[in-house]
Amino acid sequence: MIALGCDHGGYGILSAVRKYLDEKGIEYKYFGCFSEESVDYPLYAYKVGKAVSSGECELGILCCGTGIGISMAANKVKGIRAAVVSDEFCAEMTRRHNNANVLCMGGRVISSDMAVRLAEIFLTTDFDGGRHENRVNMITEIENGTFEDKE
Ligand code: RB5
Repeated sequence: MIALGCDHGGYGILSAVRKYLDEKGIEYKYFGCFSEESVDYPLYAYKVGKAVSSGECELGILCCGTGIGISMAANKVKGIRAAVVSDEFCAEMTRRHNNANVLCMGGRVISSDMAVRLAEIFLTTDFDGGRHENRVNMITEIENGTFEDKE
């Protein structure tokens, strides 16, 4: 199950992603927003972040005007690694190296076609693990306040 959310700035590109998921028969939970009327992106970041961090949803996709504000808010939810992405290479690498669990994109930055392409890459790429595992664990330690600077 994929958690989806956006503000008015990301509504257009996330609608295209929803259409793609519908066509592919991929299940998702949509948290809004529901039109291009102005709303506050942290609300949707919170809802999607909670759905992913609780395990209710495996991965999330969030869209706002730039992808930045909504990623900042999502990254405040414990357990969330949200990445703002606007190209194919980063969509792949943030899954492979960072084990990102939320993809963030900007409706004023990329086209709907590109948003669908990036969502497809993000949802079909696995974490590489190995040497990246320890680095991702270090991010969690920073979040938990247990990180030790051993240098
Ligand atoms: C809304 O105008 C805009 O600020 C928002 O969509 C987003 O780009 C924030 O980072």
